[in-house]
Amino acid sequence: MIRRRLRSLLVSAALALPLIPLSGVAAEQLNVLCASDNDWCELMRNTFQKETGIEVSMVRKSAGEIFAQIRAEAANPKTDIWWAGTGDPHLQAANAGYTEVYKSPQLEKLHSWAQEQARISGYRTVGVYMGLLGVGYNPEVLKAKKLAVPKCWKDLLKPEFAGEIQISNPNSSGTAYTALATFVQIFGENEAFAFMKSLGKNVSQYTKSGSAPAKALARGETGIGITFLHDLLKETMAGMPVEVFAPCEGTGFEIGSMSIVKGARNLEAAKKFYEFALRADVQSLAFKANALQLPSNASASIPPKAPRPDEVKLINYDFAKFGQDDVRKRLLKRWDDEIFAAQRM
Ligand code: F6P
Repeated sequence: MIRRRLRSLLVSAALALPLIPLSGVAAEQLNVLCASDNDWCELMRNTFQKETGIEVSMVRKSAGEIFAQIRAEAANPKTDIWWAGTGDPHLQAANAGYTEVYKSPQLEKLHSWAQEQARISGYRTVGVYMGLLGVGYNPEVLKAKKLAVPKCWKDLLKPEFAGEIQISNPNSSGTAYTALATFVQIFGENEAFAFMKSLGKNVSQYTKSGSAPAKALARGETGIGITFLHDLLKETMAGMPVEVFAPCEGTGFEIGSMSIVKGARNLEAAKKFYEFALRADVQSLAFKANALQLPSNASASIPPKAPRPDEVKLINYDFAKFGQDDVRKRLLKRWDDEIFAAQRM
């Protein structure tokens, strides 16, 4: 009896112990916040874990949510590295001093746009991919409702599209902040807000994540979705009725980025992940997750169906300006007051 109780006590004590390998050294760990599409996040986690033996805990969130979490945890960081997601919030975090200065020895292997992202942040972030903003439509839905295919941003204001458009909320979504900043750069701030107010009359839903409108389009739940072209084309590649265009007035783009969190508890593991994520062979794996962004490493292979910058009219996006913390706060407040508030009335 006593022996049985002793054995069960020993078993409970063993279960309560942290996992320590036979070598006696605790396994290295890494906490990652991932802001790309789930499939790519998983691929990165599994490949890195397999290669290094480092245990990765990874959570997918939208860029605005990650920025809010990193700000909230600044005094006691629980995240080591923030991989992917639109570049503006990475720059805002850099600006606010929430991320670590780190200059990768691989910087020179990156495209100039990715190096520039690092330079303007004082080397607190770096570009990992480029993605182009666009519009998608479901031809079956438009045909059934006898709606003509739009070509320009301003076409989306036509009253016949009432309730037919989805776009994400710029407070949570980096995609929607890219769209907001794009409209401001194309039309000027006041006209952009007038545009978004009219657009709001046709918007059925401001989604939390940027790619949600692409998924809703694929399911035929909406006729039009504003998001990144690569998220739309991922649905097309899966055989869904989703077609895309880059609006005639021009469009914006993202420099998807990566930053190490200031005060990261697992700094060495974070640096290993950083170097891993910049490698050409690792970036070339993206197509396995149907991720069609353009890789930042100049030697990485470009997915064959990736939308190319020279095929669309791209604006000269001012990342240094729209990556500023106070600019973002002011634009988001104005969006809440003038656009979101009108939606709820
Ligand atoms: O789904 C991939 C992706 O579009 C990335 O290219 C981009 O950085 C991110 O998602 C934006 O997501 P969200 O708008 O939800 O922050």
